[in-house]
Amino acid sequence: METSHQPVMLREVLSLAEQAYENYRSMNEESHPFRILDGTLGAGGHSLELARAYSEASMLMGDRDARMLERARSNFAAAGLDPAQSRFNWMRKRASEIELPLAGSAENPPFAGLDFALLDLGISMLHLKEFKGGFSYEDESLDMRLDEDLQSSAQDLVNSLPEKELADLIYRYGEERASRKIAHRIVQSRPVESATRLAEIIARAIPGPRNRPHPARKTFQALRIAVNDELAEAERAARHLSSLLNPGGILAIITFHSLEDRIIKKCFADLCGAGPGISRYDVPVLEQEQKPAAFEKAIRKSMAPSAEELEKNLASRSARLRAIRRKNNAPGIEKRRAGISK
Ligand SMILES: C[S@@+](CC[C@H](N)C(=O)[O-])C[C@H]1O[C@@H](n2cnc3c(N)ncnc32)[C@H](O)[C@@H]1O
Repeated sequence: METSHQPVMLREVLSLAEQAYENYRSMNEESHPFRILDGTLGAGGHSLELARAYSEASMLMGDRDARMLERARSNFAAAGLDPAQSRFNWMRKRASEIELPLAGSAENPPFAGLDFALLDLGISMLHLKEFKGGFSYEDESLDMRLDEDLQSSAQDLVNSLPEKELADLIYRYGEERASRKIAHRIVQSRPVESATRLAEIIARAIPGPRNRPHPARKTFQALRIAVNDELAEAERAARHLSSLLNPGGILAIITFHSLEDRIIKKCFADLCGAGPGISRYDVPVLEQEQKPAAFEKAIRKSMAPSAEELEKNLASRSARLRAIRRKNNAPGIEKRRAGISK
């Protein structure tokens, strides 16, 4: 998440990118430019710093929300980086569906594989503070859809699910112990047409002490995850992007809640382990993920923001960073496409 002007765990992300860059150089891969993907572009905070640090790099920048692409492009322009540079590729896509551009030019060859990929999952401060899409307790709307092609909004779920299903959803995706009480109150109060009204209903169902997190926090998280299918998407994206890495390439993922972190932890353990992967969300496990493991951890466990970052930006406290690297001797996408196994 970018919580103020500062993207979360930027120093740690840049240090992983530098490891990937050193590997790229040591492997004499300079026949192609260093290739970076930011699959959750947001306002462009991380991308902007990566674009500055690697001024020759080809960059693929995507977000499932079209408004973020516009914002990131204008932030690039405001920072003096022309968003129309040929090394920049902008994509309105879910991270799990990112395709590498096949067409290129002499000075910017096509993306054959990725040297560094980043996912900074969740929503942006702009979703909470500016877009009024129902993510914030003050919003008049109750939509929560990140992409325009999603069918059901939070309002649809809240007003149409049977009480038990609504309670299960709040429990499963919000880890909310009072899920049944909350679902009961919501059903009694239908129709619920705004985020403000939903937050009031929940605050009445489970009044909490003052100065604690808002009582609706977990229910809002649950609805957002359900509307955007965020957990399955996170796993799909992690597996998909790992398959696009070049040898020595690094995939770094920042999560903001324990449900998502557990999924990434398990998925990375699968990718770095020797056995065939087992997906919790029935995401097909790719052939090249089978033995012997093509990946290794680029960070041994997970990393949390430093004390220094927390002092400046307390909202980053739940961030966790994990990263894997495709082993240097594992075939990259070019060789896999050509059917060469080593
Ligand atoms: C936390 S923000 C990213 C902030 C960004 N790193 C920055 O520094 O400005 C997350 C962004 O990722 C987008 N997003 C979340 N999940 C996504 C996914 N699976 N695919 C594509 N975009 C996604 C959201 O729309 C949001 O704009």
